[in-house]
Amino acid sequence: MHGVVLTKLKAFVEKNFDENTWQAILVEADMPDAVFVPIRMYPDEQLGAIAAAAVKLSGMPPNELLESFGRFLAPHLKEMYAALIPKSWRTEELLLHVEDTIHRVVRMKNPGAEPPRLQFTSLGDGELQLDYTSKRRMEALARGIMIGIAEGYDEALDITESPLPDGGTRMHIRVSSAA
Ligand code: HEM
Repeated sequence: MHGVVLTKLKAFVEKNFDENTWQAILVEADMPDAVFVPIRMYPDEQLGAIAAAAVKLSGMPPNELLESFGRFLAPHLKEMYAALIPKSWRTEELLLHVEDTIHRVVRMKNPGAEPPRLQFTSLGDGELQLDYTSKRRMEALARGIMIGIAEGYDEALDITESPLPDGGTRMHIRVSSAA
């Protein structure tokens, strides 16, 4: 997993809890001296162990924690590839171009990074469909990132989910202006 995800997870924990909590999470995850930098890749297992420790110590349900982290992460991801995001885009355009523009460049520039292959389809009238099939099964993170992106454009999302027959999740997304 890209170091940007781990460094922002640390920032998320420090913002919502405190610095000692991050240290306690590392101890619980059996990597007390771990230091992460945003330009390196780390084994997925490290993120898994840290997320499990964060769930245990925070008492938050895993999906709630991951979704909340996704919301926090979204503006940082946007900033990281701001050069690829035209000013005229809003939530819908950005989501429709994540795969062909953004995740494609992430794969090219960061050997070892494997962002999920996201299949977005426009259904018209501000409605989109996303088929999420990553083996990492981080649907809650995907939901949180999308909500965080929408918040940055003063828009809101209504998301419903159903399972795909071969694994993964289909999400139906309705974009509206924030109330
Ligand atoms: C705004 C621009 C975005 C950037 C720069 C970006 C970048 C990245 C990067 C660097 C990773 C880590 C990949 C790895 O290390 O293997 C990642 C993972 C991920 N991205 Fe994006 N992303 C963006 C938008 C989105 C959006 C809108 C979604 C919403 C569906 C999304 C969903 C995910 C998920 C769920 C993962 C976790 C890995 C997985 O599910 O397999 N990303 N992204």
